[in-house]
Amino acid sequence: MNSFTYSYPTKVYFGEKAAKSSLPAELNKVGKNVMLAYGGGSIKKNGVYDELIGILKAAGKNVTEFSGIMSNPTYKKVQEGAQLAKENAVDFILAVGGGSVIDCCKVISAQAKLSDDLWEFENEKHERPSEFIPMGAVVTAFGTGAEMNNGAVITHEEKKIKGALWGAFYDFAILDPAYTMTMPMKQVISGSFDALSHCMETYMGSPGGTNLSDEINEACQRNIIRNLRATLIAPNDINPRSELVWAAAMAENGMLKIGKITDFQAHMLEHQLGAYTNCNHGEGLAVIHPVLYRHMLSEAQAQFSRLAVNVWGISPDDKSERQLAEEFINALADFIRKVGLPTKFSEMGISNADFKAIADSTVITGGCCKKFTKEELQEVLNECC
Ligand code: NZQ
Ligand code: ZN
Repeated sequence: MNSFTYSYPTKVYFGEKAAKSSLPAELNKVGKNVMLAYGGGSIKKNGVYDELIGILKAAGKNVTEFSGIMSNPTYKKVQEGAQLAKENAVDFILAVGGGSVIDCCKVISAQAKLSDDLWEFENEKHERPSEFIPMGAVVTAFGTGAEMNNGAVITHEEKKIKGALWGAFYDFAILDPAYTMTMPMKQVISGSFDALSHCMETYMGSPGGTNLSDEINEACQRNIIRNLRATLIAPNDINPRSELVWAAAMAENGMLKIGKITDFQAHMLEHQLGAYTNCNHGEGLAVIHPVLYRHMLSEAQAQFSRLAVNVWGISPDDKSERQLAEEFINALADFIRKVGLPTKFSEMGISNADFKAIADSTVITGGCCKKFTKEELQEVLNECC
């Protein structure tokens, strides 16, 4: 196992009515000027906005609203939010939404305190911000686990890069599964697959031999698969939904990464696909994963065969490691199809994207058991059509 340091900065309030029971005390700890940040308006339709505004007003806060944070948030939107935060001397940001709102605010919180341009500061000067506006997250769409880490995925439209910027950790995250019950089913499915992908991408890193992080990871994967199937049968049942909300947070809160260098090659490729097509993150991953995995069958045979048995329940009897590895990929592809995720880019409306440019601009990760070339990544993209 690799050496590691572990500590956790984000306090989690999980469960029904978590906002009502925890937010007033948390708001007592912060300044008067609060930015309420959200997306395209789903929170106004499902009552979450009214509930939170009520709590904010009762706490005597001056509220600045920052709305319209889009899926796959842009760097321009970050700058808009940072400007608004500065103009209104914002003391605290309450981010309400899915990964897009939650990520956008992590970076707003850093940019509002920094005179340099954050993108250049991080990517060209290779520095990390150290001052932030404190923040809380209220999760309304699960999947990314963004509420429990400090990485933000932001699209720089002019540079055509969808990449990571490092922002603040949330001081607290409110995960009320009831808030997620109005998510469109398409987003429930793609969010669940994103969480499963985070588990697999971590599992495929190194060291690849059996270790505690991977054994916990296998349990997370089984949980996501079982509870997504249960949710599709009973979409209004809050029990499987609750499991998914916490499993998604677990998948990206660093716990499964302890002692590991992660892979995340599928993510790097999907992010650049997103930079060029603005596609749905979980759906892009669903198409890419089986194709990419077929390209790394030889190198990843040991991990794939373990996943076949320990996650997908495939009997190991009289089968070679290679056979089991192939059966894992088949089981994954079958699951993707059966839960209604796309299996080809054409099903996502992507027909003629510039795959060469996407592959050329994709980061090749250090943790993957296979070192891909840009040419092979382009082949993967072509095979996804
Ligand atoms: O904008 P509104 O109107 O709120 O609608 C949203 C949006 O259209 C809707 N929604 C959210 N909660 C809802 C709801 N609709 C009805 N009822 C509710 N309760 O859902 C749609 C999708 O939301 P979005 O936040 O875009 O989705 P997701 O959570 O999948 O986030 C995607 C972003 O996160 C990044 C992705 O790349 C993408 O940019 N990621 C962030 C990660 C991280 N920071 O750890 C890791 C991931 O790998 C990922 O890259
Ligand atoms: Zn993801």
